[in-house]
Amino acid sequence: MPTYQTLNVDTRDGICIVTINRPDKLNALNTQVMQELDTLFEALAADPQVKGVILTGAGEKAFVAGADIAELATQSPVDGKQHTLRGQRVLARIEGLGKPVIAAVNGFALGGGCEIAMACHVRIASENAKLGTPEVKLGLMCGYGGTQRLPRLVGRGRALEMLLTGEMIDAAEAQRIGLVNKVVPRDKLLPEAEAMLRKMLGNGPLSLRFTLEAVSAGHEVPLEQGLFLEATLFGLICASEDKREGTSAFLEKRPAKFQGK
Ligand code: COA
Repeated sequence: MPTYQTLNVDTRDGICIVTINRPDKLNALNTQVMQELDTLFEALAADPQVKGVILTGAGEKAFVAGADIAELATQSPVDGKQHTLRGQRVLARIEGLGKPVIAAVNGFALGGGCEIAMACHVRIASENAKLGTPEVKLGLMCGYGGTQRLPRLVGRGRALEMLLTGEMIDAAEAQRIGLVNKVVPRDKLLPEAEAMLRKMLGNGPLSLRFTLEAVSAGHEVPLEQGLFLEATLFGLICASEDKREGTSAFLEKRPAKFQGK
């Protein structure tokens, strides 16, 4: 198991809590953080002990306050393109993990921080959280998928208001527009994320995997193709032991014991 300098990784009872750990820089995403996230999420995808992930930030103030501005300041156009492609790849790895990932947004989620939260499957925020895409204030623009995922989550008009003003919104407003699913007091954030994840993990692992796949792939294709994909995955899951177990357990009035097979 590799060791990480900028991430705390704690796996217990099927849940891996990943904490981005640069609190003195409000957990800004520098090259090292992105490389470590890339390595870690590749390992988490392959680790059968890990059934779901919670992603959060260290310290009291921030989830992630964005890409590291000190690094961005010195980037050439060629570096900038590489940086963006690498970041997009890391976020795609998180989104495509095949197991549920919940962002526990414990403070500022700005720029790349808001983008990484959007690549997670569900977002729960603490009451002190503030979200936004302030890149335009720096003469930049989103580069980790913000121009694509934000409109899909909150609609084009609201997304463009955030993307073009660069202003932050508070947790309550983020919930109102659908950017976060839930807002809870700071001390309830991790317990709430874990409780939601445990509810998910009580269900069939293949059901979770295929549902994530259908929803992700369905965004990219016309409805007809998305429906066809759903039908195909449904057919596939009909061949699984989990389906046999889940339906038998219901009919026999007992809890199901899923194996993910
Ligand atoms: N990249 C690099 N360093 C960052 C950072 C980022 N995105 N965000 C914060 N930091 C650093 C600050 O430079 C400061 O470091 P220092 O103590 O060595 O000077 C430290 O984190 C604490 O931040 P500070 O600005 O002092 O905290 P604050 O409470 O006054 O303000 C924010 C909090 C989030 C409003 C402010 O830090 C901010 O605007 N950050 C940048 C957000 C942004 O534009 N993100 C998009 C980047 S593309």
